Amino acid sequence: MKLFLDSAHLQEIKKAVSWVIIDGVTTNPSLIKKAVLAMRESGERIDMDGYIKKILAEVGRMRPVSLEVAGLTADEMVEQGKILYDKFDQVTGNVAIKIPVCTVNTSGEGDPFDGIMAINRLSDEKIPVNATLIFTPEQALLAAKAGADYVSPFAGRVDDRIRQKTGMKFEKTDYFPATGIFDESSTDSLITDHELNSGVDLVARIVEIFSIYEVECEVIAASIRNATQARDCAEAGADIATVPFSVLESMVMHPGTRDGIDAFTNDLENDYTALFSGEV
Ligand code: G3P
Repeated sequence: MKLFLDSAHLQEIKKAVSWVIIDGVTTNPSLIKKAVLAMRESGERIDMDGYIKKILAEVGRMRPVSLEVAGLTADEMVEQGKILYDKFDQVTGNVAIKIPVCTVNTSGEGDPFDGIMAINRLSDEKIPVNATLIFTPEQALLAAKAGADYVSPFAGRVDDRIRQKTGMKFEKTDYFPATGIFDESSTDSLITDHELNSGVDLVARIVEIFSIYEVECEVIAASIRNATQARDCAEAGADIATVPFSVLESMVMHPGTRDGIDAFTNDLENDYTALFSGEV
């Protein structure tokens, strides 16, 4: 499984790329906002154009970086997708354009298929597209049929929706079992969202469908909230998991590893450390 960093924070990106296990970066308007607020707080001036170019240069030629459009109609999304691609892909040739699979809002405004049409038109122009805000396998299938190179199922947000149905209290980073959770009143009935048991179930089903029909579209497990969920996505066969910086850090840490480091350090024999001192 490839690993992307889900961040627009330049320092996080620099650090994660230096750790050599990052294969790409995904951003979205919320992540850009977070990065801009952090910059403002530290008194830095914001030049968005220059900032994005720095991100792209930092990530480098071989690793894709997803940049999202802001518009909600097919025409706006295509126009903005082209602007982003023309402006930024020339930096290191690594830009993919993120298009929401469906732009109908909570008030019901918008055309349900504008996202799909925008994906298709950009894909026809050979612009790599990452279809985002995927909450069902059927949305993923439609996006892939329209020509998306990537689909991004929002695993953590599916889990949020299921937990919200129960009224249970939870932290965003709490682990949610890939197999789902049962209704308190019956151990037979799982609480689901659109017949999905969990966000990982969503990822697994998309992987399964794409495999049956040999769909050439990579599945980016997104909205990953903790290391165990990243593991579950790997087991589900996701091509890529895009993880926040904090999740990436937690993936390498374990108390047993820490204890082992202490034990090995305490047990070092002088004769053994002398091997490294050049004194022998
Ligand atoms: O990649 C999508 C991601 O940024 C959304 O994550 O945690 O806000 O659901 P989250």
